Amino acid sequence: MSKSFKNKVIYQIYLKSFKDTNGDGIGDLPGIIEKLPYLKKLGIDMIWINPFYPSPQKDNGYDISNYCEVDSLFGTMNDFDNLVLEAKKLEIDLMLDMVLNHVSTEHQWFQKAKNGNSYYKDFFYIREGKNKHLPPNNWQSKFGGSAWNKLNLEENKYYLCLYDKTQADLNWHNPNVREELKKVVRFWMNKGVKGFRFDVLNVIGKNQDFVDSVDSEQEKKLYTDTPIVHQWVQELHNDTFSKIEDSITVGEMSSTTVDQGILYTNPKRKEVDMIFSFHHLKVDYENGNKWSSVNYDLNVLKEILFEWQEGMEKGNGWNALFWNNHDQPRANQRFGDIVNFPFETNSLLATTIHLMRGTPFIYQGEEIGMTDPIYSSINEYQDIESHNAYNKLICEGLSDEQAFDIIKTKSRDNSRTPMQWTSGKFAGFSSETPWLKINENYTTINVQRELNNGKLFNYYQCLIKLRHNEKVISDGRFIPILKEDTEVIAYLRVYNDQAIIVFNHFKNSTYSITTKYLKMTGDVLIGNYKNVIRREDKLTLRPFESVGFWIKDVKQLLNALE
Ligand code: GLC
Ligand code: CA
Repeated sequence: MSKSFKNKVIYQIYLKSFKDTNGDGIGDLPGIIEKLPYLKKLGIDMIWINPFYPSPQKDNGYDISNYCEVDSLFGTMNDFDNLVLEAKKLEIDLMLDMVLNHVSTEHQWFQKAKNGNSYYKDFFYIREGKNKHLPPNNWQSKFGGSAWNKLNLEENKYYLCLYDKTQADLNWHNPNVREELKKVVRFWMNKGVKGFRFDVLNVIGKNQDFVDSVDSEQEKKLYTDTPIVHQWVQELHNDTFSKIEDSITVGEMSSTTVDQGILYTNPKRKEVDMIFSFHHLKVDYENGNKWSSVNYDLNVLKEILFEWQEGMEKGNGWNALFWNNHDQPRANQRFGDIVNFPFETNSLLATTIHLMRGTPFIYQGEEIGMTDPIYSSINEYQDIESHNAYNKLICEGLSDEQAFDIIKTKSRDNSRTPMQWTSGKFAGFSSETPWLKINENYTTINVQRELNNGKLFNYYQCLIKLRHNEKVISDGRFIPILKEDTEVIAYLRVYNDQAIIVFNHFKNSTYSITTKYLKMTGDVLIGNYKNVIRREDKLTLRPFESVGFWIKDVKQLLNALE
């Protein structure tokens, strides 16, 4: 079936924080309907909506208790059907979040298993503890603590939970589980959904021996990217979304490799269209530890981005391109200077990835330059992972202040603050106090103001149009240049007789570069400064400047590349 995800741009909606219409402080489905014209104006093709299914909300909806319903917190099934209808009118497709690795412990499957039903017991990984006090093995939960939790008080039995204790991992080795999950995907397909984002897809194939691990790296290998995952993703593909024309699927891949990325996304293998990988967002982790706070090295960031660009192209794989999502602090704070150069920083980050090979994702608020909030107490954070990490840091001996400083930079709530629509009460998000405290800068950073006087929204519109219209951006080859340069991420894209060259200056100084390619440049494709300082083979870049040029003579360029 024909595929056209290459020239699409997808917008992520964190529903809980997007737009509240009934005054309970929580974003809802009618809120998306209300804002569809805004999304249309931006120009995006599809919206990915974070989970809105019934859930005890221990992990903000990633703990699902019923896959085929709408949680009353977010609206009704009728609202969802209306959303499909209204979005369709504007030619916007929907992508739903499929959390198929685990269910909430309140899901009836788990409840039945807990009550001794043997059919459902086999839906989970339930194992005897090593002894009275020790779980089956030493694996760690990604949210801290043991990856096993007691099934009940009476027995020495545990269930596997790689995330929160209330998220029980499903046993994909059981064909009945796989069939049930396919029914879920089909249920939403039948409602007109064309896109699916598969949560933590590469950890569904646990090695069932459940041996102790020797270290955290080796531990991950026991349940990440195991060969059987590919078989099951192919099965899912074949039995569900292969049946819809123009479906778009993306797998969230925790700690994966380029080689695996190719296996997941090379179209011949019939798995998913693209993947999210996260290595580029770990460059400010100290020795791989998220809960630390260190500066990043541009060359490391660049090396990772280039490795994924070149590697995936070589194997005919495909990347999802993104800086932000609901699990990440805002990238503008990590990689730029939002105090002195907010527009430049935001547009630089956008340019860098939107002109790459892959499908760009925009996370809500990114298009108006939203930033991390400044909270003053740990109690203002809601996220379970942040609280677990805070407690752990305190146990490790950090002071309240030191621990809080780290949470501030890394908490997932940084990007989950309510969308800033206006400078009015509660930022126009809700008429009542929102579930998570609004960022205080909403009086200066908000949609209303951005549409009236801003430059960023408009810049995003241009980037989206370029992807829609220019084959060189959607389909071109990616060729990195200036690899060793310490201030600039630069590359070429080439498609038949079209080529572009892109420079992104990641520092807050003025900087000149010289390269033979500059002599071949023609018109400016896009840039975040009014004019360009270019002389012969020299280009002067200002703080956080991004600029792309058309190449005049592609033959000459290709000769120069040889
Ligand atoms: C994914 C989600 C994250 C969630 C986790 C467990 O990483 O993006 O929000 O906590 O999976 O479902
Ligand atoms: Ca609401």
